Amino acid sequence: MRGRRSINFFEQEPPPRELILEAIDLARWVPNHHLTEPWRFYLLSENVKSTIVELNANLVALKKGEEAAAAKRARWSSIPGWLVVTCLKSSDELRAREDYAATCCAIYALSLYLWSRGVGTKWTTGEVTRDARFYEAIWTDPKVEQVVGLVWYGFAAEIPVTARKPVSDILVEI
Ligand SMILES: Cc1cc2nc3c(=O)[nH]c(=O)nc-3n(C[C@H](O)[C@H](O)[C@H](O)COP(=O)(O)O)c2cc1C
Repeated sequence: MRGRRSINFFEQEPPPRELILEAIDLARWVPNHHLTEPWRFYLLSENVKSTIVELNANLVALKKGEEAAAAKRARWSSIPGWLVVTCLKSSDELRAREDYAATCCAIYALSLYLWSRGVGTKWTTGEVTRDARFYEAIWTDPKVEQVVGLVWYGFAAEIPVTARKPVSDILVEI
């Protein structure tokens, strides 16, 4: 848990598909209230990945110009593994909140397992994941499902260093 990091740069070689399927299989065993199993996992093909890379480049071009868009396109195109995790929506506010929480647990469990098997991930919730065209690209109805994360995966080319506040800053004993 201490050693896992969000990975920004990956090796080109994709991890074995069986390992990703195993991680999805295990992720289903996280706690989820009323056993709603609210998550859906979308393993993206090269085709869908390209659609999302282009969509994101277009969004970046609008805000930051063509040069920034080209740099983003190049970096995103080099990411080997693409997984989208969604959560079924609910009109019941408490259920929606609990289902979202459970789906977050599933993403973390998947990431932690993959890390234990030598595969890094990065969980992203950038603007592109909220765009209606993103939902179209993954053949999903935003009225029915909500994207909780775009999870990139692959063998880490670099492992960033990060830190956390001391426990004394966040622990309250009452
Ligand atoms: C819900 C969620 C959304 C995130 N979205 C992004 C993102 O859009 N872009 C990004 O660079 N990192 C994103 N991250 C990764 C965090 O920035 C990262 O976990 C944090 O910097 C701590 O680094 P570590 O995971 O290596 O400990 C997200 C993490 C979570 C839990």
